[in-house]
This record gives sequence, C-alpha cells and structure tokens, in this order.
Amino acid sequence: MARRCFIAGNWKMNKTVAESLALVRELRSAVSMVRDRVEVAIAPPFTALHPVAKALEDSNIVLAAQTCHASESGAFTGEIAAPMLKELGCSYVILGHSERRQLFGETDAGVNRKVSAVLKAGMLPIVCVGETLEQREGGNTLSVVETQVKGCLSGFSAIDGARFVIAYEPVWAIGTGKTASSRQAQEVHAHIRSLLGGLWGAETAGQVRIQYGGSVKADNAAELLSQPDIDGALVGGASLKVADFAAIVKAKA
Ligand code: 13P
Repeated sequence: MARRCFIAGNWKMNKTVAESLALVRELRSAVSMVRDRVEVAIAPPFTALHPVAKALEDSNIVLAAQTCHASESGAFTGEIAAPMLKELGCSYVILGHSERRQLFGETDAGVNRKVSAVLKAGMLPIVCVGETLEQREGGNTLSVVETQVKGCLSGFSAIDGARFVIAYEPVWAIGTGKTASSRQAQEVHAHIRSLLGGLWGAETAGQVRIQYGGSVKADNAAELLSQPDIDGALVGGASLKVADFAAIVKAKA
C-alpha cells in the first residue's frame, strides 16, 4: 500500500487566537485542491486548538497538538492530558520535538510514556528524532537516531506500530535555513525504516510514514519529497505563511 504524503505545520509558540483564525481561514482554501491526495495537519498552540478545530470543520486539514502529558489527569499544574486534546478534536500529537528535548528536558523514556497516552486516547503520535550538529560531525548520526527510535518506540506491537508517524528533524537544520540534502535525509530515513522493520517487521515498517523536518521551504520540498523514504514534511517557520505552506503541500500533489 502506498504511503500517503503527510505535510504538517508546527506553529510552535506563535499566533494568538485571532491570528490563528485569520491564518486558518486562508489556509483552508489554499490547500483544498489536494483533497485527500495529501494529508494536511496543523499544530497551533494549545490556546488556539478549540477555535481552530471549529474553523477547520468540513475542510481537508486535521488538527495536531505540540505535546501532551503522559498521565490522564492529576496534580500536574500547567500540563495538558491526551484525552483533553482528543476532546478538542486533535488527531495527532507531536512528541519529542528537539525543542522539548533541549529546552524542557524531555527524554526518550518520557516520550515513550507519552506515546502510550496518545494511542490510548485514540490519537496518533508524530515522534521526532534527530541529531545535533556535533553528533553529525562526529559521525554519530545513525547511532543517535537509532537510540532515539528504540527508546521512544520500544514496547509497542506491530499493530500499534502502523499508527506511528516518525519525523526526522536534524537539530542543526531547524530554524537555521540549512536543510539536510535530499541524500543526507534519505540515508537517515532508510535507516529509520530498517529499524522499524527490526521492531515490527517489514510490512508494518513499509506502512509507517516518515516526515522530514528542518527548514523545509517551497523551493526545497519537491526534491526532499521525491526520495523513496521521505513521506512528508514537518514544517515550522514556513507553516506560518499561507502561500509558503500551500506550496509545500502541493509539492507532491
Ligand atoms: P523550521 O521549518 O522552522 O526549520 O522548523 C522545523 C521544525 O522544528 C518543525 O517541527
């Protein structure tokens, strides 16, 4: 079964409710022509999820959250639980983004627990992995990514496995304007798919979509998406501009 291209916009800590609604109003029509050939998701900040969910009704854009807590409820001041996100209409939750890892101390074991919570709540995880510049220059890219994939994904069955999305986001390419070359990205994506094969078997590994993230723009998206193991993109900065995001969505449509 062919993997459907999946383009997701990670808005990070940007856009008030009013700004979010203005962006979504334009985005809806700008990406409507791809219909179901490309899956499109946006991940606004928590505060905008509810109004944006309403604004996305009857569109071909689905909703994602940027993180969640691993517990269903409890004394965790300031945190948001997976069932709360499901209730708002989220289909996906981004987990283990490098900014969460670097700035908020997230670990592979913590991401693993959050994945369980997301699946249990009936949503799908987008699990982010990727090496720093130092790790790449030290020749450790594949081993770093391997540790992250195994740590985040261990303990899940092949049935759960088919529900995962993985995002390979080299840390040195995020927000820097430096993109991995399509060859560099494909090498890591192929490695991730072979790791998934080891965990869940070749059939399931062949179903999992692996997005690339890190300075994806309208002018490099088509080249990246032409690679055999690059099944979509997780877009930061360019997802905040309607024309740029729409061009990325259409790059493979
Ligand atoms: P940029 O597209 O701004 O580099 O961000 C990528 C990213 O972190 C998406 O999650």
